[in-house]
Amino acid sequence: MCGIVGAASANDSIPFLLAGLATLEYRGYDSAGLALLPNEGVNGLQRARSKGRVAELASKVAQAGMSGNVGIAHTRWATHGVPAEHNAHPHISGGLAVVHNGIIENYEALREKLQGFGYVFTSDTDTETIAHLIQACFKGHIGEPAENLLSAVQCAVAHLKGAFALAVISEEEPECLVVAREGSPLMLGIADDGHYAASDASALLSVTKRMMYLENGDIARLTPESISLIDRLGQPTQRNVITSSLNANAVELGDYSHYMQKEIFEQPQALSNTLEMISGAGQLQAGIFGAEAADIFAQIDSVLIIACGTSSYAGMTAKYWIEQVAGITCNVEIASEYRYRQSVPNPNQLVVVISQSGETADTLAALHHAKALGHHHTLAICNVPESAIVRETVLRFITRAGPEIGVASTKAFTTQLSVLFLLTLLLAKANQRLDASTEKAYLDELRHLPIAVGKVLALEPSIKAWAGYFADKQHALFLGRGRHYPIALEGALKLKEISYIHAEAYPAGELKHGPLALVDSEMPVVVVAPNDETLEKLKANMQEVSARGGVLYVFADSGSTVTSSENVHVLQMPDPTGFKDGGFKTDDFKSTVFKSTDLKNNGLLSPVLHVVALQLLAYHVALVKGTDVDKPRNLAKSVTVE
Ligand code: G6P
Repeated sequence: MCGIVGAASANDSIPFLLAGLATLEYRGYDSAGLALLPNEGVNGLQRARSKGRVAELASKVAQAGMSGNVGIAHTRWATHGVPAEHNAHPHISGGLAVVHNGIIENYEALREKLQGFGYVFTSDTDTETIAHLIQACFKGHIGEPAENLLSAVQCAVAHLKGAFALAVISEEEPECLVVAREGSPLMLGIADDGHYAASDASALLSVTKRMMYLENGDIARLTPESISLIDRLGQPTQRNVITSSLNANAVELGDYSHYMQKEIFEQPQALSNTLEMISGAGQLQAGIFGAEAADIFAQIDSVLIIACGTSSYAGMTAKYWIEQVAGITCNVEIASEYRYRQSVPNPNQLVVVISQSGETADTLAALHHAKALGHHHTLAICNVPESAIVRETVLRFITRAGPEIGVASTKAFTTQLSVLFLLTLLLAKANQRLDASTEKAYLDELRHLPIAVGKVLALEPSIKAWAGYFADKQHALFLGRGRHYPIALEGALKLKEISYIHAEAYPAGELKHGPLALVDSEMPVVVVAPNDETLEKLKANMQEVSARGGVLYVFADSGSTVTSSENVHVLQMPDPTGFKDGGFKTDDFKSTVFKSTDLKNNGLLSPVLHVVALQLLAYHVALVKGTDVDKPRNLAKSVTVE
């Protein structure tokens, strides 16, 4: 993936480039670099690169006293070549420098060809191929010598296969920056002192809110005074200028140790904000998903959910809800699989894409694939209003989790679940499976959710006390059944993402078909044990573990009657009936409108509560292990390569 920024400014571009990179670190953080064109009195292209975080690059840049009005910068998530300074962008060919987000699929053939022309490669990246290719177009090694940087980039892009967003500067034209987009996101910023480019709108906010989203195939030449834009056919074109609604304020950590911890504790508020539109409603209106939602929900015969990572587990949970409550078939596909397999298209299906970032390359490509197959009922559930995925669906619901900084998703996940539950209810209504009083009861449960989640958060000290047991283990197993199986998957994912402990999740009934062979005293087994219809079966599965010397850590609902013993540790989830008069003041969560209900158990929304406990477990295990919780190794927040 990686993040890129570029500037053609009347002023020094360094502050913008470094601030932009810091904002884009969520896209990758294993190395960073920037290149500048000479201001008067300084000779030649200047470049600084460093392995590690943007802060390390910033101190290098400060020590070197670099400055320049036209520049490009990059933060990397390694695909081709290890994280190292020689693989960090920008890559250079002669007096020309390139930063790139995406993957060039035909880079090996291009590299061979360019080596034949005498170009020498100093990195293992696919990106260096682009730098030499543009230079080759300039010099006439490929085609006629290009007249200027824009036409050299145009010539090079015609030879590239794959997905990319590029920013290029050259000593030949020191007043300009050329950018190109095919597949990977790129947008321009229009400010009083110049023109800017970035992979993400948030990186432009330090200079402007006026933005222009480039389309695939677009190439733009930016100077401080002008933008010239051509489309894939080389024709001059224009794109709309929008005013971004995003907020430039940096997210403060406050009293928390990590963003992940803060975001776990923000969940009551995030849910409250996301559900605000139903705060006083006795009945749901389909319009909350978009103007055409009522018509579409009435027409569809099934649901196809497409997502990656944590978002796919939200989808899997929703499958249980949609089929049970709405009586509509629901399938969930991993985006990277769906986009390449031969599926059976059904134009009457509602295609739901779920993505916290709205930029995940596989999810976006899977959406394009679905549309190409004739699926036209599309819905995005996303946390970023101006993201690529949201701009390409007919219906949408923007979760209001607020910015999520920790790479391991927490509040984005639970808010996605809350929206998927709203969708379930609307589909059930459209399918005439929901009478008014049941609808009202479900809405009450949803409104109650922020308070219920708050009660789970209060378990933190007890969960923290368990963390030490896990920290010296190499492996962990998570078990769940029914709608809590995806929650076991999410719990295992959280643990492996941030503590680097190998964790796997199984539907508890599958234990005896393989994973039981792994169980011994060194393999903690975490069990999600709601007091629901599968509890007795689950207890039998726990016995299977105990009988083999396994150690169980059970998150049990009250009334589950799972008793602690030497190798069975039980943590009691809050009593749902107790939420009514619970220790949280409702206005703690801006939810004075949320009246508590007479819940007898945690019901269909129980997965939302259980996952919060598992988030806390992963967080505290990672703390004991001393890992980089918010930026775990090898991962990134937004995965914009396939
Ligand atoms: C990355 C993030 C995960 C996220 C996944 C899908 O791997 O680290 O937290 O679940 O991408 O991202 P999306 O933005 O599409 O939900």
